[in-house]
Amino acid sequence: MRLILHRMRRSGQIALAALISGLLLCPACALAQAVPLQERLQLCAACHSPDGNSLIPENPNLSGLDPDYIVRQLHDFKSGNRKSAVMSGIIPMVDEKEFAALAEFFSRQKPNPGGKSDAKLAAQGREIYDEGIVGSAVPACSGCHNDDGSGTDKYPRIAGQHSAYVVQQLLGFKNGERANDVKAVMRAVAKRMNEKEIRAVAEYVVTLKGAQE
Ligand code: HEC
Ligand code: HEC
Repeated sequence: MRLILHRMRRSGQIALAALISGLLLCPACALAQAVPLQERLQLCAACHSPDGNSLIPENPNLSGLDPDYIVRQLHDFKSGNRKSAVMSGIIPMVDEKEFAALAEFFSRQKPNPGGKSDAKLAAQGREIYDEGIVGSAVPACSGCHNDDGSGTDKYPRIAGQHSAYVVQQLLGFKNGERANDVKAVMRAVAKRMNEKEIRAVAEYVVTLKGAQE
């Protein structure tokens, strides 16, 4: 009897030890638990606003983004393929089963009608957006993201996106911190741009209205 009790205690300890080491190895696994959409949206709204048009310029607008694009970004944050000091800390709490509904919700929100910007810088940015930069072989952004920034099913909507976020992403693509773009298309574009050009084009992107359905 004593022996059995002893064995049970031991196996209990082993189970506990396994659980603790499992948590240490994979803290995300223990946290992720699917919750209803409305409950989960409260978390997202804290940073992206309830309608996906965030008030903080470092937090991207999610309104009107293509749902497949959103789902892919969420998977990339989850796998670590896209790193973010903020989203990498949030995404472990969210179950992958929730991604499609979250994406559908934000894609249906009315897109941001565009923000204010520095007119002189935006005029320089417009040239880059529409024509590219011939001397350094930067292609026109409009070639992929559309003249009005509304994007396509292949290329994300960027119209009205906060300039601070656009600058941050372009710098990220440029230095390889963001490397989840298929075939490295955005890295190839951003690598050829200097910081001044990046700031100018971002000042123009925020003024774009895109399609406002
Ligand atoms: C604490 C603030 C915070 C919370 C909470 C948060 N986010 Fe984010 N989110 C960010 C920031 C900051 C970024 C920009 C990441 C980067 O630097 O690349 C971002 C980026 C994203 C992107 C990428 C957008 C793009 O245009 O590529 C998606 C999609 C996203 N968040 C969805 C969500 C969803 C869904 C939730 C709720 C489950 C959520 N976020 C909760 C701050 C937050
Ligand atoms: C050859 C096509 C192509 C061209 C040209 C291009 N882009 Fe992109 N861009 C993409 C793709 C594809 C993505 C999505 C990357 C991913 O899947 O994560 C993207 C993503 C972005 C993002 C990130 C969007 C987000 O929500 O996080 C920004 C900002 C951006 N592009 C701005 C620009 C600007 C500004 C230019 C012009 C200087 C430009 N792009 C030119 C294809 C292109």
